[in-house]
Amino acid sequence: MKTRITELFGIEHPILQGGMHYVGFAEMAAAVSNAGGLGIITGLTQSTPEKLAAEIARCRTMTDKPFGVNLTFLPGLATPDYPGYIQAIIDGGVKIVETAGNNPVKWLPILKENGIKVIHKCTSVRHSLKAEAIGCDAVSVDGFECGGHPGEDDVPNFILLPAAADKLKIPFVASGGMADGRSLVAALAMGADGINMGTRFIATTEAPVHQNVKDAIVAATELDTRLVMRPLRNTERVLNNVAVERLLAKEKELGASITIQDILPEVAGVYPKVMTEGAMEAGAWSCGMVVGLIHDIPTCQDLIDNIMAEAETIIRDRLMGLL
Ligand SMILES: Cc1cc2nc3c(=O)[nH]c(=O)nc-3n(C[C@H](O)[C@H](O)[C@H](O)COP(=O)(O)O)c2cc1C
Repeated sequence: MKTRITELFGIEHPILQGGMHYVGFAEMAAAVSNAGGLGIITGLTQSTPEKLAAEIARCRTMTDKPFGVNLTFLPGLATPDYPGYIQAIIDGGVKIVETAGNNPVKWLPILKENGIKVIHKCTSVRHSLKAEAIGCDAVSVDGFECGGHPGEDDVPNFILLPAAADKLKIPFVASGGMADGRSLVAALAMGADGINMGTRFIATTEAPVHQNVKDAIVAATELDTRLVMRPLRNTERVLNNVAVERLLAKEKELGASITIQDILPEVAGVYPKVMTEGAMEAGAWSCGMVVGLIHDIPTCQDLIDNIMAEAETIIRDRLMGLL
């Protein structure tokens, strides 16, 4: 299947693995890229630019296919050494960067001067158009159902994707709620050029996370995610657990007076505990509603092959047969 996204990134299948904190290590990115998709290393999971450089080098030993690096521009308290991370990306010869969070305009000139393609993750049509206007090569349109930060507009992909397709000229992938061949065909029908998946890729054999995380994803249903930090305008979709229930109780109790300090026990330093140690109740961790569609833990190769085979069957047998 050739789309503007496979052409842009030089990949076999129009399937991307979005940056994921404490999941997007070299093993994850290489497994997705080796399976013909685009794997992405999560830049900020590496605590320094030197460590990111080493992670990129490690990924090179595992794949000779293209892979990218995610750079998340946080609204957060401390500002990471973005120039250092970007230098590590350039020196590591990485040619694709997934940006997310704040507007990446400040960093585009240096990325573009170094021949790097930029795909920016957006949760609204207006932000997608802004990304196009500032010179991004593509956008990842992240609907309300997505794991991670869905923004504050709450527009699900059945509306967001066609609305984006009506306005955008650059290619875009559908992100949030994508799991299988049905998702891919639906995304293409709504005007996207491919799909971006987060949660689905965590439940794979190669995802370098604790088995408890994969088991929790397989066990959960589409009713098991919650939105936290909405009062702070930093909404995150997470898998429910006791820490999340405690956090939501605090939000209810403190109302508009809540600050990040009030919820630090539920949100700070959670990812290594959950992803590495498998402490599933340690705090709030991102997870999409698509968790309700995940019932197995395949290899990335099987997952991607099955998506492509299912998509082809749907198009050839079901859709063509309707005409
Ligand atoms: C555990 C987890 C961690 C994530 N961390 C990041 C991150 O650090 N930066 C980022 O841009 N997106 C992050 N995301 C969002 C994903 O890249 C992707 O956009 C999202 O998962 C798509 O929705 P889906 O989970 O329904 O597939 C994360 C998602 C998950 C599930």
